[in-house]
Amino acid sequence: MKKKKIAVLTGGGDCPGLNAVIRAVTKKAILDHNAEVIGVEDGFEGLVDKRYRQLSYDQVSGILSLGGTILGTSNVANPYNYPVKEGQTVGFKDLSKQVIGNIKDLNIDCLVCIGGDGTLAIAYRLYQEGVPVVGIPKTIDNDIFGTDISFGFDTAVQIATEGIDRLHTTAQSHHRVMIVEVMGRRAGWIALHSGVAGGGDIILIPEIPYDINLVAERVRSRREKGKRFSIIVIAEGAKPIGGDVTIKRVVADASDPVRLGGIGFVLGEQLEQMTGLETRTVVLGHLLRGGTPTPFDRILGTELGSGAVDLIFNNKFGQMIAMQNNSFVAVSLEIAAQGSRLVSPDGSLVRSARSVGTCFGNI
Ligand code: F6P
Repeated sequence: MKKKKIAVLTGGGDCPGLNAVIRAVTKKAILDHNAEVIGVEDGFEGLVDKRYRQLSYDQVSGILSLGGTILGTSNVANPYNYPVKEGQTVGFKDLSKQVIGNIKDLNIDCLVCIGGDGTLAIAYRLYQEGVPVVGIPKTIDNDIFGTDISFGFDTAVQIATEGIDRLHTTAQSHHRVMIVEVMGRRAGWIALHSGVAGGGDIILIPEIPYDINLVAERVRSRREKGKRFSIIVIAEGAKPIGGDVTIKRVVADASDPVRLGGIGFVLGEQLEQMTGLETRTVVLGHLLRGGTPTPFDRILGTELGSGAVDLIFNNKFGQMIAMQNNSFVAVSLEIAAQGSRLVSPDGSLVRSARSVGTCFGNI
């Protein structure tokens, strides 16, 4: 039987656990199927520029606990809307035909795309145009449709919770309001989980626009009850009722160019003025994405990588390996491409948090 050839890429923002997935895909493909594995460098950029390298068993040994991705990644390289420098400005071109040609030249049996909704949406388009593709959901934001959890989320929640715990003690000592801003553009999963785990007094997420008067009132009433500090956990994508998100920068060469950040500082200034209480803001940002993955993410990454290889050898292309109700299942990439899986404002964890007195800024 002809030896199968698999290519792997990691796309979008990096995320703890990526190397655990690369390791699992490569080792299983080699050990169980005697397949050849090719690593594509820097996501879809490597498929435009033909930058690949062979991945041997030894090359993926010892990377299980390593943060980042040994393959590199890019969150601006969408082949269907690819940034091309024209003098001082950046234009966008559809390079998908070139990418599909390069994939054909590689002579692979499957392209494994490890990424978030953007990467998986590109993977789905490539699949529709005849490329045999399998997806693996990745994002610290945990907002991919079709899977209950993505690897990286657990690590991000752990780091955010540790940050909140540390800020708790200094907030208590100085009798201050401490605001912790965490990542989460459209979905507030990290803020919700770390906020609950860290005992945040107020949690503000994109799915529940907040009333600044209610937030100020909660801080004041805590003070009146003798609680001389407050901890507020806010997602970068949170916004006031009737207001908009806070944009940190616009990345000129990205087809999805808006980067959020800074809402914590906006809120801090407003609260200090409204309550007269000293307020400090800490933005955890990319700290949540870096460094070693938790055991949970290493295990999940290993299961997902292994499951993806099963999809390949069962010819289940155009699918991603996902977790639903504690089981690993194949889900069409079409579902993942649909957008973001959001926190339900009246879901179980929001209700439980409210029942212990947590304020979400709207009631
Ligand atoms: O989607 C993952 C994410 O970490 C978001 O939470 C965040 O808004 C974004 O990536 C940041 O991207 P960049 O690395 O371009 O700053």
